[in-house]
Amino acid sequence: MAPPPVSTSAATALVALASAVVTIASLFIRRFRRLPCPLPARPASRLVEAVAAALPGSVLLPGDGAAFTRATTAYWAVQEGEAGPGCVLRPRDALELGRAVEILQKEHASQRQEGTARGVGLFAVRSGGHSAVPGAASIKDGVLIDLSLLCDVTPSDDGTSVTFGAGARWKDVYRLLDKVGLAVVGGRNSDVGVGGGISFFSPRHGLVCSNILSYEVVLASGAVVVASASERPDLWRALKGGANNFGIVTRFTARSFPSAKIWSGFLYMPSSQADNVLAGFHEYVNRTYSDDPGTSYDLDAAGPLACFTYVQQLGIQMISVNIVHTRPAENEKKWPRNWGTSAFASIWRFWSTCKVRTMISAGEEMSSLNPPGKRQVLAVTTIKNEPAALAGTHEAYRAGIDAMRRIRGGSWTLVLQPLLPEWARKGDENPLGLDEGPSDPLVMVSFTVNWSNARDDAHARATTRRAIEMIERVAAERGSNHRYRYLNYCDEWQRPFEGYGEENWQFLKGVSRKYDPERLFQEACLGGFKLDIKDEAS
Ligand SMILES: Cc1cc2nc3c(=O)[nH]c(=O)nc-3n(C[C@H](O)[C@H](O)[C@H](O)COP(=O)(O)OP(=O)(O)OC[C@H]3O[C@@H](n4cnc5c(N)ncnc54)[C@H](O)[C@@H]3O)c2cc1C
Ligand SMILES: *[C@@H]1O[C@H](CO)[C@@H](O)[C@H](O)[C@H]1NC(C)=O
Ligand SMILES: *[C@@H]1O[C@H](CO)[C@@H](O)[C@H](O)[C@H]1NC(C)=O
Repeated sequence: MAPPPVSTSAATALVALASAVVTIASLFIRRFRRLPCPLPARPASRLVEAVAAALPGSVLLPGDGAAFTRATTAYWAVQEGEAGPGCVLRPRDALELGRAVEILQKEHASQRQEGTARGVGLFAVRSGGHSAVPGAASIKDGVLIDLSLLCDVTPSDDGTSVTFGAGARWKDVYRLLDKVGLAVVGGRNSDVGVGGGISFFSPRHGLVCSNILSYEVVLASGAVVVASASERPDLWRALKGGANNFGIVTRFTARSFPSAKIWSGFLYMPSSQADNVLAGFHEYVNRTYSDDPGTSYDLDAAGPLACFTYVQQLGIQMISVNIVHTRPAENEKKWPRNWGTSAFASIWRFWSTCKVRTMISAGEEMSSLNPPGKRQVLAVTTIKNEPAALAGTHEAYRAGIDAMRRIRGGSWTLVLQPLLPEWARKGDENPLGLDEGPSDPLVMVSFTVNWSNARDDAHARATTRRAIEMIERVAAERGSNHRYRYLNYCDEWQRPFEGYGEENWQFLKGVSRKYDPERLFQEACLGGFKLDIKDEAS
């Protein structure tokens, strides 16, 4: 079926006008955004002094001025940069980090002994700085460990694996691999830190974590160790979804495979197409596996990622849908067959950016749609691919718009994407618990919300929480709910480890107790989601 003309001149003019207004408005906002002010000098704690004395060349202190400010505000979400750490440690290698962790452990042990721990943590760890949860990778007064110098990327000689530093971002990895015709199962947004998540290659190869062959980790003792299928396999499995509860990863080795350019892009539609997009989404995700890519799942296709957005500044709504194929025919002008036979080929649109391009180009398109510089919140839930539950997500999005009208410069986006239990069964075993239970396709439902003023933080967060809870209620009434919550998109009130299932959660707690017996990462490393290890007889 031939798609309608991509743009009438009126639609083009509208899109051009809308993007001009957005650009001008955002420049205006940037101009007047509160700049981080210099922190009042606080007396350095004994911990900060000890770290600075042991590793003088790798520590930035408040007295270092602009360099310190830059390092403490280098986050995607503005609110993450407002904590004000006592120092920033930028280790140049794992051994240096090990020495710092020994000092942290010593301070942690003495505070436990003295009973002086204040429950505010001693340090936080940042890689890409892309988490939106306040305090996930930032700390007030303590030590901010910034891994950005650990960013080397090295493919193996035989092309079957690639090693990268934990401070790299996916764009660092893709830029190099694009040149040598290789790919890894890595993030879609190329600005986010490496290590975990969902990939364009997940339908064929599984989740990102299930394709990490080995980790180099600094444990609470300060020791630098390797976790792989043959060395410390329990730690290896726990790191595939267990977040910062076991140690600090300094290096990943991921499986790689030959890959050329991919076909990828966004379709932009007016909000009047919402019902068609929801129906098309359901129909596509309801496909089964068979040999016919025209009617069944194509393992080389990723998406659809359907985004419904309300932009307060313009008072408008818009829909965008990302679709991808990782093995397009050379110089293909036509849509890949699985997408050409889907409803998305015929839904009326303003504009399409779909084309054959490099991984870095596809990743940059994603990251350019969510640049840094705003306050952000994300929250997520999981439902079955069931029409009424999907309609419920859109109703919650629409109800949220009323609340978002009050937030100047706010933007409110519902994102639907498929999440197949099948994917979690590919690659190495992980503790996410998604592989258990029926294979029916699931839908990951998230909100991504951004705004400018701190005074709107509580309102934006509460609106998002209300929308997620409404979706969960509607889904539960119909038996279309699911326990899994994707950790990387969870907000601070959510409890992702509960969604892994009791057995997996217990497994993670056991591994944490084994490798971190003094609970350095549970009590002294702030941020992220903790395992809730209680004082059971240890
Ligand atoms: C707009 C947006 C789009 C996204 N798109 C994708 C996507 O397409 N695919 C995908 O896979 N993910 C995606 N993500 C999720 C992303 O993977 C997570 O936010 C991830 O946690 C970011 O990693 P980071 O290193 O940038 O984060 P950071 O904020 O630096 O860290 C996140 C958490 O991990 C801990 N941590 C960081 N580094 C280490 C380490 N080396 N060792 C131990 N703990 C550590 C931190 O303490 C913190 O709690 C997206 C997120 C956003 C907001
Ligand atoms: C979903 O797919 C199944 C199996 O192919 C089919 O029987 C069913 O009719 C589909 N449901 C809808 C609503 O399209
Ligand atoms: C805010 O969200 C909107 C909609 O998702 C997006 O277009 C815009 O780029 C976002 N802005 C930032 C700075 O994240």
